[in-house]
Amino acid sequence: MRTHKCGEVTGTDIGSEIKIVGWTNKWRDHGGVVFIDLRDRSGLVQVVFSPESDEAVHKAAHKVRNEYVIQVSGSVRARPEGTVNESLPTGAVEVVVKEFKILNECKPLPFMVDDDTDASESLRYKHRYLDLRRPIIQKNLILRHKTTKAFRDYLDGEGFLDIETPILTKSTPEGARDYLVPSRTNPGSFFALPQSPQIFKQILMVAGLERYYQIVRCFRDEDLRADRQPEFTQVDMELSFVNSEEIMTLIEHMIKHVFKEALGTEIKEQFVRLTYKDAMDRYGCDKPDLRFGLELADVSDLVKDSEFKVFLDTLKRGGIVKAIAGKGLAGYSRKDLDDLTKEVQGYGAKGLAWIKIKDDYESPIVKFFPDGLLDKIKERLGAEKGDLMLFVADRVNVTNDCLSRLRNELGRRLELISDNVYKFAWVTDFPLFEWNEDEKRHEAMHHPFTSPMEEDLELFFKEDAESQSRIRAQAYDIVLNGCEIGGGSIRIHKKEVQDRMFHLLGIEAEEANSKFGFLLDALDHGAPPHGGLALGLDRLVMIMCGARSIRDVIAFPKTQKAACPLSNAPSEVSAKQLEELGIKLDIKE
Ligand code: AMO
Ligand code: AMP
Repeated sequence: MRTHKCGEVTGTDIGSEIKIVGWTNKWRDHGGVVFIDLRDRSGLVQVVFSPESDEAVHKAAHKVRNEYVIQVSGSVRARPEGTVNESLPTGAVEVVVKEFKILNECKPLPFMVDDDTDASESLRYKHRYLDLRRPIIQKNLILRHKTTKAFRDYLDGEGFLDIETPILTKSTPEGARDYLVPSRTNPGSFFALPQSPQIFKQILMVAGLERYYQIVRCFRDEDLRADRQPEFTQVDMELSFVNSEEIMTLIEHMIKHVFKEALGTEIKEQFVRLTYKDAMDRYGCDKPDLRFGLELADVSDLVKDSEFKVFLDTLKRGGIVKAIAGKGLAGYSRKDLDDLTKEVQGYGAKGLAWIKIKDDYESPIVKFFPDGLLDKIKERLGAEKGDLMLFVADRVNVTNDCLSRLRNELGRRLELISDNVYKFAWVTDFPLFEWNEDEKRHEAMHHPFTSPMEEDLELFFKEDAESQSRIRAQAYDIVLNGCEIGGGSIRIHKKEVQDRMFHLLGIEAEEANSKFGFLLDALDHGAPPHGGLALGLDRLVMIMCGARSIRDVIAFPKTQKAACPLSNAPSEVSAKQLEELGIKLDIKE
């Protein structure tokens, strides 16, 4: 149907007769001459219907509307001087139409197909076929395609086998709520959609497949955010006979390969290594954005010598005081400071103490600090004249959480965060457990199949919760620009260790058997040492595209309410279907 793609008509085609097809991106009439920007996946080209070249064709062009699909035959010519569009790859040429055909019409549009649309998300998703025509989204999907291809090529070269695992399966413990599917053939029983292929990939290792990968959909019924979807895609991997160093090295090479192939970006530096403790101490979180500094400092040992009651009371209760230096922000007005305090209170802090460094220290709380103490704090923070020192006093986790969010906010305000810069980090040495205060029990920080560190096995077999809280896991997360893009671990491959792990998590033998008996049994039949990792493909591609929402890199995403406005899923089912499943509804409003 065509000789050329719209976006590929260039100066070398001047004088040739060509045939192109596409959508009418923009229709306009300039002094009796009709111009259409014709668009296909490759881009745009300007076509001209002038009465001088063909009266009938020019007349017929008036029937065309935006997003009509047309086929055009004509000759390529250079655009007249002064009308060249430098920002368009085809901006130096235009196609003078000799013949054209309307291949299909288009109803009036609910919104303009344009990169700068201000249509609401629900309207865009309802007509996603129009939304997906926007070049920016097409660009994202093309990059996603290149990224998956680069992963596959790399993994194939490294001897990984692409093996599918079940979607209709049993609950997998990744910490979210399951999506359930009722079974008609086993009334009263349900499948769970996999939160990840975790158990199956481990069983593939027991089966001797040695290197597995899958680009696989995972399902988690959790609250949605800008970087979360209820169904998302992992680049999921598992390997036998490896240690965590070997896995991390392989992943690092793989990601560098993918960035080069898909994005043309050479990542030269080695990924930064941070222990969990380091990350929490210096950045207050386990996924720090390393594109900028602004490190936090614990000043508890210094402020204990002050007379500021807020700090002293916090320390007495076992809390800490940490601080951050807002570079060059000593000029903040009272209102700026009140706004910033409100912001940090929104994160959960009780307040935000501040001290400006001008010729002198300035703050209502300066009077509580003896001579010389503020100099020591300033030095610890690496602060200097012109800076604003900001303090939060609270329980350890609240302090860290608030200051890490404040750090990101300051990074934005001070414009320290650049796009097109990629700062990778490995975070290692995670605690094995996280304490659930409400239920007074340990929870797995990663998942219950993660192996404790060899050095901490002694603690693992101790009975007190304090020793147990100090056990480190052979787990590692990969962080890019402040986003957790992947995580993995060396797994437990001995049944007695796995049994002990379930015991410590408060999962007793019977429950463990009913939930994970098939894995426990496999571990008892010659399971090799193994480990792996899963990357969040959507998150990774989101960052590579510079997109703000994960939904901009997924062809058919779900809304905030985990629904699809295009297909109207989820939706009601017929009474007959429910009856077949033996299900009676009892919906509470
Ligand atoms: P984890 O739960 O850390 O590990 O998931 C791996 C990566 O998947 C991405 N991710 C998500 N992306 C979008 N929406 C979501 N709702 C979502 N949840 C997770 C993140 C995350 O780092 N089985 C283990 C991996 C292993 O141990 O090998 C697992 O699933 O980028
Ligand atoms: P107050 O004594 O409540 O007037 O507080 C004095 C200053 O300390 C104010 O700037 C508060 O925002 C700040 N502040 C109060 N509680 C905390 C806290 N937990 N951590 C840091 N600063 C605080």
